[in-house]
Amino acid sequence: MNILEIRNLCKVYGTGETRVDALKDVSFDIEQGEFVAIVGPSGSGKSTLLHILGGVDVPTSGSCNIAGTDIEKLDETKLAIFRRRNIGLIYQFYNLIPILNVEENMTLPILLDGKKPDRKLLNDLVDKLGLKERLSHLPNQLSGGQQQRVSIGRALMNNPALLLADEPTGNLDSENSKEIIALLRKFNKDNNQTVIIITHDDKIALSADRVITIEDGQITRDSGKMSAKKDLSQMMREDISTERSAGHSGRKG
Ligand SMILES: Nc1ncnc2c1ncn2[C@@H]1O[C@H](COP(=O)(O)OP(=O)(O)OP(=O)(O)O)[C@@H](O)[C@H]1O
Ligand SMILES: [Mg+2]
Repeated sequence: MNILEIRNLCKVYGTGETRVDALKDVSFDIEQGEFVAIVGPSGSGKSTLLHILGGVDVPTSGSCNIAGTDIEKLDETKLAIFRRRNIGLIYQFYNLIPILNVEENMTLPILLDGKKPDRKLLNDLVDKLGLKERLSHLPNQLSGGQQQRVSIGRALMNNPALLLADEPTGNLDSENSKEIIALLRKFNKDNNQTVIIITHDDKIALSADRVITIEDGQITRDSGKMSAKKDLSQMMREDISTERSAGHSGRKG
C-alpha cells in the first residue's frame, strides 16, 4: 500500500526577479513501512518538500496524497487535525517550547487535539529515548542530543503513520547520531511506521532502504527499494572517478 503519492509538485517562492522554483514537477510514491533517505545539495528543495509532505507548507501546484487523503483539499483546521493524527515532524532545530518541560513538550500535540496522552506510550518512549530522569527539565537544561530526542518523542506521541525528519542528526556528534538513527529504525521496524529522513550523512543514507536524490528542485535519482546500498556506492564511485578525470585528485601514484 502506498502511504504517499506525490504528483507534479511545484513550489515557487517570490515573483519576478526574486522568483525561486524550489520544486519543479516532483512525483513519487512511498510504500507504507519504507525507510527513505532524501539527499541533495544545499538549497535543492529538500526541506521545502518535507514541509509540504508534513502539511506545514502548501505547494504552488500538484497533489499530495497521504494515507488516502488529498491534503491540499483540506481547509486549515482539517489539515491541522490531519497532521496531528497522522504525521510526526522532526525539525532540524528541535522547535521545543522553552517554557514547557520535557513531558509537557512531548504531550502538547495530543492535548491540543483534545485527547488524553497515552501514559503507556509516553512511558515507553521516555524509556527508549533515555529521558526518564529528565521529564521535568526545561529544554535549556538539556543537551542538544537530549533536546533532539524530546522532539522525536513529541513526533511519536501520536503514533504517526508517517514520520518526517529534517536532518535529525545535523547537530549531533557521531555517537548520538548513531543512537537517533537506530531509534528511528526501531520504530520503523516495530510499528511499520514509514520514515523519511533528510540527511547529508552518507553513512545514514546508506543505511536506508531507499535513497532519493534532489538537485535543483527535481528528483535526479531514485534508488528504488532494496537496491539503495548498491546504488549509493555506485554513485560514490562515479563521483570519485569524475573528480579524478577532472584532475582534482591532487596526488599521483
Ligand atoms: N521562504 C522562502 N522564501 C524564498 N525562497 C525560499 C524560501 N524557503 C526556501 N527558499 C529557497 O528555495 C530553495 C530550496 O530551499 P530548501 O530550504 O528546500 O533547501 P534544502 O535542500 O533544504 O537546503 P539545505 O540542505 O541547505 O537545508 C532555496 O533556493 C531557498 O533559497
Ligand atoms: Mg533544508
